[in-house]
Amino acid sequence: MTARRVPLLDLAALHAPIQREIDAAIRAVVDSQQFILGEAVARLEKQLAAYCGAVYAIGCASGSDALYLALVALGIGAGDRVYVPAFTFFATAGAVTQAGAEPVFVDIDEATFNLDAAHLDKMIREKPDGKAVIAVHLYGGAADMDAIGAVAARHGLVVIEDGAQSIGGEYNDRRLLSIGRIGCLSFFPTKNLGCFGDGGMLTANDAELAERLRALRVHGSRERYRHDEVGVNSRLDALQAAVLLAKAPYLDEWTQARQRNAALYTGLLEDVAEVELPRAAAYQTRHVFNQYVIRCQRRDELKAHLAGQGVGSEIYYPIPLHLQPCYEGLGYREGQLPASEQACREVLALPVHSALTGADIEYVCGRLREFYGTV
Ligand SMILES: Cc1ncc(COP(=O)(O)O)c(C=O)c1O
Repeated sequence: MTARRVPLLDLAALHAPIQREIDAAIRAVVDSQQFILGEAVARLEKQLAAYCGAVYAIGCASGSDALYLALVALGIGAGDRVYVPAFTFFATAGAVTQAGAEPVFVDIDEATFNLDAAHLDKMIREKPDGKAVIAVHLYGGAADMDAIGAVAARHGLVVIEDGAQSIGGEYNDRRLLSIGRIGCLSFFPTKNLGCFGDGGMLTANDAELAERLRALRVHGSRERYRHDEVGVNSRLDALQAAVLLAKAPYLDEWTQARQRNAALYTGLLEDVAEVELPRAAAYQTRHVFNQYVIRCQRRDELKAHLAGQGVGSEIYYPIPLHLQPCYEGLGYREGQLPASEQACREVLALPVHSALTGADIEYVCGRLREFYGTV
């Protein structure tokens, strides 16, 4: 087979066909000279609230800020506990610490990589009196919201959704980011809907909460130069909103391409004994495959082999959050959250982005099979 280059992500290929539309949208913002919030941000908020099945959406500066603002708006701060999965991007826990609260790390369900509701219940008993749980929909697949919601209701916890990787995903036909009290989105360039820098958004169904979030992102101000509480500066730039508005009409088409690519992998790798393919959860009605993640033996060697053959891959994530150096003081030890620790040793994300061709995927699978000697 002739060598080719298959990067993990190819933003140039994604943007090239719609570059004129993006350029025109950027030009319109420059011509308007309205760079902060304004009409473009308001239009995007309306459009994405509807897309996520939520009543309100509030743009902010990043997905990390969305998580922080969600916690502050819910009154969570010093002395509070928030339950988070130990296997996720750092921001999920970092936002809790930044808000002054303590993250309590919960193990994941090994089949879905998402929060294990039974273990959540166990951790609540060990470290009680928490205020909230953050359910992350990792890689674009839904966490078990009914099971998590039931445990949360039993213990009086608010549920926040970290949907940074899962725009358009569904849980039992319900759009993610509309199920918890607040949903958090990221528009980091690698996301399924990414902007040209940092950007984020919050979703909510409660008018009062939405209003508080709107105030918190502009220093707690509801009325110009009057501050009812202390907030932060976390606004979405109009330029980023314009880029997102230009890209949003293509999101479903891109998601379908990701799903098609995932199905191709599954068909081509099913019989490789050393590889475990992503498993579909019983409640999963729309996985949006921000990442296609396999578990594999000799993971680091496979990654190096693929890199040598021009294939990009990545480890999301190599260190579980309970073992991060910054959380040493919380007293967790290795072996305590085994499913998260095992995932960190085994996961590898393969290219799944929408600009890939069937031949690209066949090439990746061919190189992988070659590594395991199953060509
Ligand atoms: C699960 C998860 N949560 C939060 C974030 C933070 O988003 P941002 O990078 O926009 O701050 C990310 C982004 O990488 C993420 O993947």
